[in-house]
Amino acid sequence: METPAFWLVQLFLCLLWVNHVMTLGLGGARHQAIVCNESLMLEKLPTCGKSFEEMMKKVDSKKWCNLTEFIMYYDNFTQCTEHEANNASCFWPNPLAEHFITGIHKQFFSNCTSEEVHWEDPPDEILIPLILIPVLLTGAMITLVVWCSKRSDILV
Ligand SMILES: *[C@@H]1O[C@H](CO)[C@@H](O)[C@H](O)[C@H]1NC(C)=O
Ligand SMILES: *[C@@H]1O[C@H](CO)[C@@H](O)[C@H](O)[C@H]1NC(C)=O
Ligand SMILES: *[C@@H]1O[C@H](CO)[C@@H](O)[C@H](O)[C@H]1NC(C)=O
Ligand SMILES: *[C@@H]1O[C@H](CO)[C@@H](O)[C@H](O)[C@H]1NC(C)=O
Ligand SMILES: *[C@@H]1O[C@H](CO)[C@@H](O)[C@H](O)[C@H]1NC(C)=O
Repeated sequence: METPAFWLVQLFLCLLWVNHVMTLGLGGARHQAIVCNESLMLEKLPTCGKSFEEMMKKVDSKKWCNLTEFIMYYDNFTQCTEHEANNASCFWPNPLAEHFITGIHKQFFSNCTSEEVHWEDPPDEILIPLILIPVLLTGAMITLVVWCSKRSDILV
């Protein structure tokens, strides 16, 4: 049985979020009080996309749907976006950065839905958690982000 690479990517991204929010929650309250420079962040993010593109060029495009082939580059890419967002005093993840990351997903993984990746549908007891966990985590993250930003508003 093969696993849907896309959901694994989502899951991976969510785990990064959790990790990040935990870190922020424990030590970064002051950081959030600074105003996010969205234009600076949007200016910097394409650099991350560029270097991800460069790295993906080393991978045979037939293997672009194979998670094990690119997970390291993907990790590097998400770290890059996080770094740039933080450097622009932005909370990460944020809707703008997410929009950018989704664009990168479309660019590289749009063909990974069914034809190129030939997986059988895993049994429901595996598929449902794979879908639900990212969805639930995303919801939790959004709540946390909203809560944190409200809190930092009060602090300011
Ligand atoms: C945001 O970054 C831009 C550079 O892209 C800079 O020109 C601008 O002054 C910054 N804005 C703030 C509020 O720091
Ligand atoms: C994905 O890549 C890994 C490492 O190169 C390889 O072992 C694995 O068989 C590949 N999986 C598929 C489905 O091509
Ligand atoms: C991640 O990317 C940066 C810049 O593109 C590069 O310098 C660094 O070596 C990369 N790290 C890994 C683990 O690939
Ligand atoms: C981080 O932002 C500062 C300006 O706020 C800039 O001078 C610096 O080059 C940035 N660093 C990186 C790695 O982008
Ligand atoms: C996806 O498939 C279309 C049509 O076959 C092709 O033009 C496009 O370059 C492919 N995109 C990627 C990222 O492989």
